[in-house]
Amino acid sequence: MPADQEIAVVRTIEDLRASVRDWRSCRERVGLVPTMGALHEGHLTLVRRSLDLTSRTCVTLFVNPAQFGPNEDLAVYPRTEETDAAMLAAEGAHLLFAPSVEEMYPPDSVTRVHVPGISDPLEGAFRPDFFTGVATIVAKLLIQALPDVALFGEKDYQQLQVIKRMARDLDIPVEIEGVPTVREADGLALSSRNAYLTADERRAAPTLYRCLSTIAEKVSAGADPETEEKKAINELLDAGFSKVDYLTVRDAQSLEPWADRTRPGRVLAAAKLGRARLIDNVAVA
Ligand code: PAJ
Repeated sequence: MPADQEIAVVRTIEDLRASVRDWRSCRERVGLVPTMGALHEGHLTLVRRSLDLTSRTCVTLFVNPAQFGPNEDLAVYPRTEETDAAMLAAEGAHLLFAPSVEEMYPPDSVTRVHVPGISDPLEGAFRPDFFTGVATIVAKLLIQALPDVALFGEKDYQQLQVIKRMARDLDIPVEIEGVPTVREADGLALSSRNAYLTADERRAAPTLYRCLSTIAEKVSAGADPETEEKKAINELLDAGFSKVDYLTVRDAQSLEPWADRTRPGRVLAAAKLGRARLIDNVAVA
């Protein structure tokens, strides 16, 4: 689709399925990029990767109430559909699925997808219903669209692992593809929630990535993870973060404590800075 054209928008599951059916009848390969909108370069990188891997890309935009806790930012989460649609058209994405809450959760819908184990630590410990909300909506989107491949960012590393496990356990025939985190020049991971940072907080924010990178380097050179974790938590508090929810080296696949050093490790953290709660993670090389 040329850059100056509009993107087709569908709002019902029936219309989404009809579009994908048309593509399939032309033997197109289909990619799906689920988002909650307020698109930035991180989202657009997933879209570009999908355009590389497939011949038709559908982006979904749905601010999913089921994954927000009672005290979280559902009411104020940025909603910018018109700009999002223009950005997607410029990238050459083929379809935007932007359903209503009633379309995705009719009043009598009660089934939820829970992925125990991998959902429990880290984000799951601080946001109790979050991963059930994510797994439920992503399972629904995958079954609704039945793409060949669905793309998710490593920025939300635990989310990616939960989705991989859910798709495997439910035999959903979709390849789940992880895409590396897109960062600002100073290392801060792009996020729609960075908009909540004041100018001073924005200057402090890259400390998170810097600390994670330092730990990753040091533990891969043999340093003790616990000692490094403690040092990094202090550094974040000194930089102006008000609370570190977790900062820990884990097994990259199970997210259990990193006991077997021959397996890949991942350093993951969540910390509060002003009104924002930043999450990030880095591979132990
Ligand atoms: P959202 O926060 O809008 O993110 C949509 C996708 O973009 C996710 O796969 C996320 O990991 C990815 N992403 C966000 N920032 C990124 C960055 N800086 N670099 C690379 N990828 C990035 O995550 C969600 O929405 C929702 O939980 C969703 C999966 C759509 C289910 O509602």
